[in-house]
Amino acid sequence: MNKKVVIIQNSKYLDFLSKLGIEGAHPGGINLTKEIFNRENINRTSHILDVGCGTGQTAAYLAHKYGAKVTGIDINPTMVEKAKRRMKKSHLSVNIIQGSVEKMPFPDHHFDFIVSESVLSFVNKPSALKEIYRVLKNGGRLIAIEQTITQSLKEKAVNEIKQFYGFPSLTKEEEWVALIKEAGFEEIRIEKSISIKSATNFNYSGEIEPDLYEILEKHYDLTFKYQEILGYRIYLCTKKI
Ligand SMILES: C[S@@+](CC[C@H](N)C(=O)[O-])C[C@H]1O[C@@H](n2cnc3c(N)ncnc32)[C@H](O)[C@@H]1O
Repeated sequence: MNKKVVIIQNSKYLDFLSKLGIEGAHPGGINLTKEIFNRENINRTSHILDVGCGTGQTAAYLAHKYGAKVTGIDINPTMVEKAKRRMKKSHLSVNIIQGSVEKMPFPDHHFDFIVSESVLSFVNKPSALKEIYRVLKNGGRLIAIEQTITQSLKEKAVNEIKQFYGFPSLTKEEEWVALIKEAGFEEIRIEKSISIKSATNFNYSGEIEPDLYEILEKHYDLTFKYQEILGYRIYLCTKKI
C-alpha cells in the first residue's frame, strides 16, 4: 500500500520519522543515552521529563533501568500513540502526553531532569528553553543532545537544510550557549561524544514505502554532503539552586 506522506509541523523529516516505525532518532542512539545517564545521579525518586520523546525509547529505558518516575511529551500524535503502546507492552507506568515543549502543562519546579534528544533544533528555541527552565526544579538538570553546526554556511545551503528538516534556524555551539544562558541556566557543560556520527542512524522495521524511501535518501544525501558541518553536541545544563 502506498500511503502519501502528509506533512505536519512543516517538516518532511519529522513526518517521515513518525511513519517509519523507528526505535529512536538521535545522534549516538540509545547507547549514548545510557552512557550519559550512567554518570547522572538518578534513583527511584527522580522525576524525569523526556521532551519530544518520539516513540519513547529513552523514557522506557529510564523507567526500567532506574525505576524513576518518567513523563514523555511529544507534539506528534503518531509518536504519542507509539510511545503509549511501547509503555503498555513493557508494563511501564510512564506518563505519555501530547503537547508542545514550547508550552507545557506542568507546574513550575516539577522535574529533576529534562532530556531533549534531537528536539530543540526543530522548535522555537527561546520559548522551549524558557519552558524547560520553568518546569525544572532548582538544582535540576537539562540534558540536551542537539544538532550544532560547526561553521557558517552559504544561504543556499542553509535553506536546503532548514527546509528539509524544518529547522527554524541552524545553530552554532556559541549560539546554543547564548540561548541556554538567556533562558536562565548559568552552569553549562558541553561535550562532543566520540560515539556520535554526524548522521542520525535509526533502526527501522518492515518495508519502506516509496514516498518514505525518497525522504530517507534525501536525509542520507544531506548528511553526507554536509558531514563536516552538521555536527552534534551534548549540552549539560544545571538550574541554580
Ligand atoms: C528527531 S525526533 C527525536 C525523537 C526522540 N527524542 C528520539 O531521540 O528518538 C524529534 C521529535 O521531536 C518531536 N517534536 C517536534 N516539535 C515538538 C514540539 N514543539 N513539542 C514536542 N515535541 C516536538 C517530534 O514529533 C519528534 O518525535
